[in-house]
Amino acid sequence: MKPLSPSLPLLLLLLLSSTTFAAPSLSPTPSPTISPIPRTSPRTSSSPLDPKPLKALESLNIPTAKNPCDHRPTSKPPSTVVTCDAGSPFRLVTSLSFTNCSSDLSISSAALRALSPSLASLSFLNCPSLSPPPRLPTSLRSFTATSSFLRRRKGLSGVYLARLVNLTDLTVSSVPVSTSGLFVILGNMDKIVSLTVSHANLSGNIPKSLHSNLTFIDLSDNLIKGSIPTSITQLSNLKSLNLSSNSISGEIPDSIGDLISLKNMSLSSNKLSGPIPDSISSLPDLTHLDLSGNQLNGTVPRFITKMKSLKHLNLANNNFRGVLPFNASFLKKLEVFKVGGNSDLCYNRTVLSSKMKLGIAQCDKHGLPLSPPPQKEDSSSDYDYGSEDETSVKKKEESRGPNKVVLGVSIGLASLVFLIIFLILCAKWCG
Ligand SMILES: *[C@@H]1O[C@H](CO)[C@@H](O)[C@H](O)[C@H]1NC(C)=O
Ligand SMILES: *[C@@H]1O[C@H](CO)[C@@H](O)[C@H](O)[C@H]1NC(C)=O
Ligand SMILES: *[C@@H]1O[C@H](CO)[C@@H](O)[C@H](O)[C@H]1NC(C)=O
Ligand SMILES: *[C@@H]1O[C@H](CO)[C@@H](O)[C@H](O)[C@H]1NC(C)=O
Ligand SMILES: *[C@@H]1O[C@H](CO)[C@@H](O)[C@H](O)[C@H]1NC(C)=O
Ligand SMILES: *[C@@H]1O[C@H](CO)[C@@H](O)[C@H](O)[C@H]1NC(C)=O
Ligand SMILES: *[C@@H]1O[C@H](CO)[C@@H](O)[C@H](O)[C@H]1NC(C)=O
Ligand SMILES: *[C@@H]1O[C@H](CO)[C@@H](O)[C@H](O)[C@H]1NC(C)=O
Ligand SMILES: *[C@@H]1O[C@H](CO)[C@@H](O)[C@H](O)[C@H]1NC(C)=O
Repeated sequence: MKPLSPSLPLLLLLLLSSTTFAAPSLSPTPSPTISPIPRTSPRTSSSPLDPKPLKALESLNIPTAKNPCDHRPTSKPPSTVVTCDAGSPFRLVTSLSFTNCSSDLSISSAALRALSPSLASLSFLNCPSLSPPPRLPTSLRSFTATSSFLRRRKGLSGVYLARLVNLTDLTVSSVPVSTSGLFVILGNMDKIVSLTVSHANLSGNIPKSLHSNLTFIDLSDNLIKGSIPTSITQLSNLKSLNLSSNSISGEIPDSIGDLISLKNMSLSSNKLSGPIPDSISSLPDLTHLDLSGNQLNGTVPRFITKMKSLKHLNLANNNFRGVLPFNASFLKKLEVFKVGGNSDLCYNRTVLSSKMKLGIAQCDKHGLPLSPPPQKEDSSSDYDYGSEDETSVKKKEESRGPNKVVLGVSIGLASLVFLIIFLILCAKWCG
């Protein structure tokens, strides 16, 4: 087998080079840095920080040896972020954000007072053992508290938040809020644009009047009762409305169609009854509609098929009845569609295939569900175009891709080796 030896190094060489194909292409994922206030300090500004806020930052244990305005601690991600304006001769602090605070941190009112009125944004993310500052500066435009202040059993009081009359952006999530209702908090917040009070044990009703500039409302997972007031439907700038997981009852107001800017709406897991109002079809940009887990009844309206932007539709676990008015080409346009858990609803077999696993029964010729109805609603039995998660499919392709290359190279290599052997052997004997 001597003639083979020259081809062996060649084989090894080719194999080695082929492994470079197999190396997965790792695209660097840039870590998102969300600055709470848009007016971040330009790095070029070299003015020193004003002495008064400097002292305040020191009292908060924020290292000020270097310019604290560019304070980006080496720990990644940074747990305290300070943002300043570009003022001259002295700069002022415009935003402060604490994440995963240490338990010995204490935020005094005096320190916050020294930072106002320039301080526009203050946020606490995951600071459960921190005590809330006794008084927040009324200069704040944005206030965020997420999973914080949990040692205090009553959480934040409505009156405490209500003092922040200059807020455009309020986010309180996974922090209990004790108040008799949202109206207490919003009473004087005449500039509010984005409102999140979620997972907060918030009780009471939705106020009868709301600020007309609201574009975002998330009141999900609270103890809100009563009906959806028509005042909410007058918010012509509202893009997102999330009232899911409350105890809201009554019907969806007919005037819901007045929310002409609405993109996302979830009313899921409440006690809503009655029909889906016709006016919903006139919401031109609605992409996300979740009405699941209520007691809505009547037929599923056909006009839903005319909603051009709709991508995510969840009607599961209601009391809809009759024939589902959707065909396969409409359902294919949706990324997510769920309709299970409606025992009086059925689908027309000549229009939709049973392979779609809609979680509802087939209709008989009178348009009534053929018994026995399928199993009770269960997310795995949903017809859910979104479940074929695009990213997971892509990942599979990626991990398969290099293997194909390796396979191809190996086959090519093997053929080449055989060709060489053949040529060598032929050179020996063919002549
Ligand atoms: C906060 O803690 C969580 C988990 O403990 C961690 O995933 C996250 O990166 C931390 N964030 C910061 C800004 O330190
Ligand atoms: C609210 O903001 C305005 C403009 O920035 C300011 O003049 C006013 O004093 C602030 N109100 C309070 C209560 O801080
Ligand atoms: C709503 O916003 C506009 C522009 O952002 C502003 O001019 C108007 O005063 C605001 N209205 C209220 C009631 O705050
Ligand atoms: C939530 O509110 C109810 C009454 O509204 C109260 O009894 C309960 O203690 C509160 N839970 C928390 C965690 O604050
Ligand atoms: C609507 O919901 C989707 C998916 O949860 C989200 O990506 C999008 O940002 C939301 N849009 C608005 C206006 O809240
Ligand atoms: C509404 O809030 C719930 C719980 O906070 C969340 O799971 C859901 O994605 C939100 N839906 C929309 C449409 O924003
Ligand atoms: C829907 O339910 C309401 C009560 O919740 C009832 O009055 C109404 O008759 C029902 N409508 C249909 C079409 O079943
Ligand atoms: C499916 O339904 C839509 C809306 O009702 C209709 O425009 C379209 O023609 C239907 N497609 C088929 C293949 O029947
Ligand atoms: C099912 O669809 C076919 C074809 O569109 C139609 O002729 C039939 O009447 C429908 N059946 C029911 C129960 O709606």
